Amino acid sequence: MSAEAHPWHASLKKQSRNVKSKITIRREMPEDIPLIRRVHEQAFHPSPNEARLVELLRDSNKAVVSLVARVEDRVAGHVLFSPILLETDQGACFGVGLAPVGVLPGCQNQGIGTRLIEHGLQACRHIGCDLVVVLGNPKYYSRFGFVCAGEYGLENEYNAEEEFMVMELRAGILRRIAGLVKYQPEFKEAEC
Ligand SMILES: CC(C)(COP(=O)(O)OP(=O)(O)OC[C@H]1O[C@@H](n2cnc3c(N)ncnc32)[C@H](O)[C@@H]1OP(=O)(O)O)[C@@H](O)C(=O)NCCC(=O)NCCS
Repeated sequence: MSAEAHPWHASLKKQSRNVKSKITIRREMPEDIPLIRRVHEQAFHPSPNEARLVELLRDSNKAVVSLVARVEDRVAGHVLFSPILLETDQGACFGVGLAPVGVLPGCQNQGIGTRLIEHGLQACRHIGCDLVVVLGNPKYYSRFGFVCAGEYGLENEYNAEEEFMVMELRAGILRRIAGLVKYQPEFKEAEC
């Protein structure tokens, strides 16, 4: 019997469909703060850096988009977008970085990360962002429309190559800008 035909496969698919219908996405509220910390501590275990990064960015008012995913009454995931600094001679540009995104280990692969990112990108569009960058697995982020940033002359401080990706929210912006993308100083601070 193939894995696809096995009864547990059908039951997993059904479970995932059930979870998808119960996911709600909304803006972060003050009561979510300890739950968001827990999401990142568990998603990135054993690294505490991502949970710390969220708190540093929130405390310095740089969390321009911060969304939680709830499954029934439980916070199961969180995504944050913060402004990037783009040194360019070609004029001003409002770019944000997607980081971090985390989903509780027991809730992964059920569409929660996808919903968070899709809603996050929409919120970024809504507040007038020109572009979004991300450092991560190209296989995952390409499904949202992210492409290799290096191909558009965008550099990063981490010497990342295909993992450094960009998505334009304002049509044509990637043809007009190039240069070094810097994340907020809180990213380095969170690593200490
Ligand atoms: C990455 C993460 C946010 C994705 O959220 P999720 O709810 O599990 O993902 P979704 O259900 O929306 O999407 C599932 C798909 O993503 C893929 N995927 C999940 N995590 C991935 C990862 N780290 N790298 C590449 N692909 C990944 C799965 O294989 C699956 O692929 P398929 O649709 O082809 O079967 C979540 O798995 C997580 O918190 N991981 C630990 C922390 C982390 O690595 N964060 C991202 C840092 S860049």
